Amino acid sequence: MLYRSGAEALADFTQQGISCFTLIPRHLDFDQLVTFEALIQLMDNAFRQTCSADPDNRLDGMGKRLIEIAERDHLLRPGMTVVDLGAAPGGWSQVAAEKLAGKGRVVALDRLEMAALPGVTFIQGDFTEASVLAELKIHLGKYPLDLVISDMSPNITGIGVTDQARGMYLAELALEFSVERLNSDGNFLVKVFQGSGFEEFLRAMRATFSRVITRKPEASRGRSSELYLLGMGKRR
Ligand SMILES: C[S@@+](CC[C@H](N)C(=O)[O-])C[C@H]1O[C@@H](n2cnc3c(N)ncnc32)[C@H](O)[C@@H]1O
Repeated sequence: MLYRSGAEALADFTQQGISCFTLIPRHLDFDQLVTFEALIQLMDNAFRQTCSADPDNRLDGMGKRLIEIAERDHLLRPGMTVVDLGAAPGGWSQVAAEKLAGKGRVVALDRLEMAALPGVTFIQGDFTEASVLAELKIHLGKYPLDLVISDMSPNITGIGVTDQARGMYLAELALEFSVERLNSDGNFLVKVFQGSGFEEFLRAMRATFSRVITRKPEASRGRSSELYLLGMGKRR
């Protein structure tokens, strides 16, 4: 299993019932670990080193999820304008830019750094901050927006209720942005976590899009609560 961040690895370990304490002595230098956050940080560092050593790693796992959904649902075509939220390390942006084949634009946003990708404009910032949202809107200018893809995952605290609420909050903000900025008939793909708030979110998606489809790509099968919702054809 290739993890894209320490937080994601930790979420997976938690789901499998492997606690922080079982994990530490086996895999990491115990002396370095003071807090739960330190564990996440160590995993993030290891992940970033792997990615910068081999940029093609970006396509492993994460990029494949988008390829699977995009091909099945014909999401990406040359000439489109696409916004990728929670884009680092860049698997989805890379796939989107390749499918657009130099015609159209991909604007990617993440609070983490992301190495440059051809055909992708990158904004580094926290999507929950009004100033970052304003910057994204400036980058988009008057271009009609055809597709929003959001793979944002919150920093995992290990407290289920908190993590679920944070995950749903990010999905709700992405939906709010899509409601405001997507073309009528535009599409929205978003990662969500089944649990508290999921049913309400699904209702809001159904009110916004003509068709809402659930997708669980092969690459995310191991994570039981994670799935993707695809809203197709934004209502006028
Ligand atoms: C699972 S990774 C995305 C992987 C990406 N789709 C790819 O293909 O490489 C989730 C990303 O969401 C980002 N993220 C989480 N909360 C965010 C926020 N509030 N603003 C911007 N990015 C955020 C994280 O920094 C992380 O890079």
